[in-house]
Amino acid sequence: MTAPSLIVDRTAAEVAAHVATRFLRAVREEFEQRELVHICLTGGSMSAAVLGAIAGHQDAEGLDWRRLHFWWGDERFVPSEHDDRNALLARRALLNHVPVPEQNIHEMPASDQGLSLDEAATAYAQKLAKSGEVAEFGKVAELGTVARPWPSFSLCFLGMGPDGHIASLFPGRPEIDVTDVAAVAIREAPKPPPERVSLTLPVINAAERVWLVVTGAEKAPALARVLSETTPAETPASAARGTVETLIFTDAAACGR
Ligand code: 6PG
Repeated sequence: MTAPSLIVDRTAAEVAAHVATRFLRAVREEFEQRELVHICLTGGSMSAAVLGAIAGHQDAEGLDWRRLHFWWGDERFVPSEHDDRNALLARRALLNHVPVPEQNIHEMPASDQGLSLDEAATAYAQKLAKSGEVAEFGKVAELGTVARPWPSFSLCFLGMGPDGHIASLFPGRPEIDVTDVAAVAIREAPKPPPERVSLTLPVINAAERVWLVVTGAEKAPALARVLSETTPAETPASAARGTVETLIFTDAAACGR
């Protein structure tokens, strides 16, 4: 578990451009270590901005996108073509514009694919567990001495809500404390839409690099809590920690400068 480091740029657009540059550099570094690199994506406006900046980056073209796999930290449980889908956002912003093979895109189930919300969470946890057996997907995460049925992502992106939520782990709710399954069903989420699937904290924290992208003055109070004293129940973002690094990319407005 690593302590978070803050990386401040002036504006949200500068943050997105900076994260894109760092992402492409990090992927090249990862390619030196392993054949396949697994990335966990998130939803929200900064995810769209960052993925768009990666797609438009001059270094994106030379990358071997066939060696990248994409997963999601959370998903809104709506039909597959619904504009609210985080997967659709990522496809529109990045994945449709780069030669990543379709079989490398691991979407969470949508509400029109025949599974209930609970079944969708279980199915994604099972998919992760199965992928964890693949040697190239990092080692299966270990908590203490007990091996857990989920792999470790090379990089997990997270946004943060003004209330301090990450993925679909919201403050004051029980899901932030779940440690025995990889994915949970979320109902009555305070951020619409109400039904979601979220990875749990141990899966996020098994990632080597956890990168939070947090911009805008409305996030300043929650970010201040993350950087001082709080609890995961009050501010879930404060509990997100990569095993190699935890970076918080932010703008002047969110960090109160
Ligand atoms: C979602 C998210 C969520 C998001 C934050 C930040 O599906 O809603 O994954 O965790 O990343 O709410 O979103 P913004 O960047 O839009 O504020």
